[in-house]
Parts: sequence; C-alpha cells; structure tokens
Amino acid sequence: MIKQAIIPLAGLGTRLLPLTSVIPKELLPINGKPGLEYILDECIKSGITQVILIISKKKMSIKKYFYNDNFYKNLIKKKKDKRIIMEYKKIKKYRKIIKFVYQNSPRGTGDAILKCEKLIKSNFFLMLMPDDLIIKNNCSKSLIFLHNKYKSSIIASRKVSKDNVSRWGIFDIKKINKNNFMIKDVIEKPPVKSAPSRYAVIGRYILPKKIFKILKKQKPGKNGEIHITDSIRTLILKKNRFIGHIFSGKYLDCGSMKGYINSGFEISKL
Ligand code: G1P
Repeated sequence: MIKQAIIPLAGLGTRLLPLTSVIPKELLPINGKPGLEYILDECIKSGITQVILIISKKKMSIKKYFYNDNFYKNLIKKKKDKRIIMEYKKIKKYRKIIKFVYQNSPRGTGDAILKCEKLIKSNFFLMLMPDDLIIKNNCSKSLIFLHNKYKSSIIASRKVSKDNVSRWGIFDIKKINKNNFMIKDVIEKPPVKSAPSRYAVIGRYILPKKIFKILKKQKPGKNGEIHITDSIRTLILKKNRFIGHIFSGKYLDCGSMKGYINSGFEISKL
C-alpha cells in the first residue's frame, strides 16, 4: 500500500520573483489558500498517512506555518473567533501527517529525494511536485489505483505542444491503452529536435524504494543538477516497469507567474 508521500519544496522559485524573495512559493495563496494545502489535501484524499516535506533553512517559514501554536493560542484566548479556531484546527490536522527533511543547497530534485531514504518504509512511495496543480480529479488517487493494478511504478503525463517540450521530462512510449503507456525511456528537458514524443512528465510519481540506490550514484545532469528523471531512466534501462498515465482533470502550472495567476482564476470558478 502506498502510504507515504514526498514533496520537494527546497527550490528557489525564481520564476515567481519578487514575491518569492520573502515568501516561499508554496505558501503563496491561490484563491485564498496556500498552494501547498491543495497538494496536502490531494495526498490526504488519496489515503496517504505521512507526507515528507523537503525544505531548506531559507524556507523555514513553511515549518512555521504549521507550528505557530503560541500565535493561535493567544489570539483565540483574546477573541473566540470561529474562523480562527477552524483554521488552527486545520493546521493541526496537517501537522499530524507531515514531517520535515532538509536540503540546504539546491542540487536538484534527485538530491532532495535522497534525503528521505531512511524514512521510506514500503517498496513504493508517492512523489508530488508542488508547481503542478491538478484540479477536478485526484491524480494521486488514480496513480495509486493503477499501481495496485499493475504493481509497477507509475508517472503522470500529458501531451504538450511541440515548441514546449524542452521545458519538461519527455517520454519515449509504447501505447497499451487509451490513457496508459509503457515508458521505454525518459529524457530530461530534451531539445525539440531530439524529443522522442510530446508526452511530458507531470509532477506525480509512484517510485520504487530501490531508486535510492541509483540516486546515490547519480551524476549531475542538465544544468549540473541531480535529476530524478535520470535515475528513473537508469531503472527503465535495467528493465524495471514504468507506466505513464495520461490523467484526467485540469492541469495548472503554478510555478510561473502567468500560470500562477491563471491557477487562482481557474480555482475560483470551481
Ligand atoms: C521537473 C522534472 C521534469 C518534469 C517537471 C514537471 O522539472 O525535472 O522532468 O517534467 O518537473 O513539472 P522542473 O519543473 O523542476 O523544472
């Protein structure tokens, strides 16, 4: 059973500057609620019981957001505001399932994930990228369902436009049915010319515990970072089964300013 999730949050968020010079991007409100809460809610609703948040010393305000008890207690003592009591309850509910791990230098997603090695208990775990919001369908829940069916690693995917492929990890695929495919290979942000398809990696993954072994030996790739994509590639080339799932629901990219603004607009229509 997939019960643990990892969310890497140590990224600098430069695409959302100047906001992210003082506020971690995952705490920026999207229609009145921090982006991170949408991701936590997705985890909780898909049956996850522990979420490991990877932060850095520079992003301690994320931890403070969940551990600001004195602030709430004093406030509630002074005025018994129902809304504040509710919000504090909600924060405490999240706190029950989250755990913090640190990545103090931004060496890439692969390096971040490796910091969680000792905490992962079962053979597979869920990983979510907080920049990718998916609404109108719980993508993690669909991935867990497929994992239980195929007993393999699963990665979410969507078709992107040709001129956009170099922004994503891109799959080489073999179709199995309408929404699922076997992953033959995956390349981190390829140039348009050498992209094997237009099916992109979207930030929801079910990964095997054995990826930690590969990550330990992983050499830096694109832009000198340790990419989870490169270790996934090694596992695929070693004949481990990875399935791509074209998820239903609406994808929102809240890691860029344009996408962030649009995310708030789309969620306000729900
Ligand atoms: C990361 C992954 C990339 C994937 C993307 C999905 O890139 O490295 O393979 O397509 O997430 O959002 P990043 O957004 O960190 O540049």
